[in-house]
Amino acid sequence: MTESKKRVAILISGRGSNMTALIEAAKAPDYPAEIVGVFANKPDAGGLQTAAGQGIATAWRWHKDYPSRTGFELALSDVLKLWRPDIIALAGFMRILTPEFTEKWRGRMINIHPSLLPLHKGLHTHAQALADGAKEHGCTVHFVTPGMDEGPTILQARVPVLPGDTPETLAERVLVEEHRIYPEALALVARGEASFSG
Ligand code: GRF
Repeated sequence: MTESKKRVAILISGRGSNMTALIEAAKAPDYPAEIVGVFANKPDAGGLQTAAGQGIATAWRWHKDYPSRTGFELALSDVLKLWRPDIIALAGFMRILTPEFTEKWRGRMINIHPSLLPLHKGLHTHAQALADGAKEHGCTVHFVTPGMDEGPTILQARVPVLPGDTPETLAERVLVEEHRIYPEALALVARGEASFSG
């Protein structure tokens, strides 16, 4: 199966628990994707060490070292040229990408967002859901398009909002589902069972 596995680069900014879920899933012999590199936009992203400890190639470019988004993305693209990914998986990557970059990777770049999109885009999604009095909350894996948190959905998972929930308790419940659906969604894309249709 190795020859037909899709090559996946993961982009992170932090601890990388979703990255770890993808790395673990990809260890299964019949998983349709392999993780070929983990990239961070800052040197202290905790997930870099985790990935390196698993023998995975890592790289970082600090976005603050670049005068523009485009300059940073050129540096990112140089790293991707070495890794030759078929698919990019954003996993807690906290940079907005330019339309040029998202169009270049159209249908081949996916993201996980901790809300039931199209509800609660952007940051502080758990606090947003609580402030709305939502009865349900969850997470979404979607294709990345130029609009933030807007691309077509691949998979969603729901969790109940419970009495007494705080953003932290809700985040914990959602994260369990993130770790479950992200590997599933990546497998769907890698097998061509989910594809971008506008
Ligand atoms: C996750 O909740 C992800 O959905 C969001 O940021 C968080 C990153 O967590 N975009 P981790 O780095 O994957 O642990």
